[in-house]
Amino acid sequence: MYVCLCKGITDQDIIQELDQGARNLKDLNKRLGVGSQCGSCCAATKELINDYRHTADNFSLAYQAA
Ligand code: FES
Repeated sequence: MYVCLCKGITDQDIIQELDQGARNLKDLNKRLGVGSQCGSCCAATKELINDYRHTADNFSLAYQAA
């Protein structure tokens, strides 16, 4: 599913970056450019980050990788 239409970024792109240590919207903006144009994807991206953090396995993997 596309999260950021301006940059063509999907939820899987974001999850992959979170798996690789991105922790917040700022990190995702630097790595993928999410939210760098119209900004309408920022709320959905934050929601995706929160969902990711609430999945215990993913959360611990993210912190191990950082
Ligand atoms: S939809 Fe992501 S910057 Fe426009």
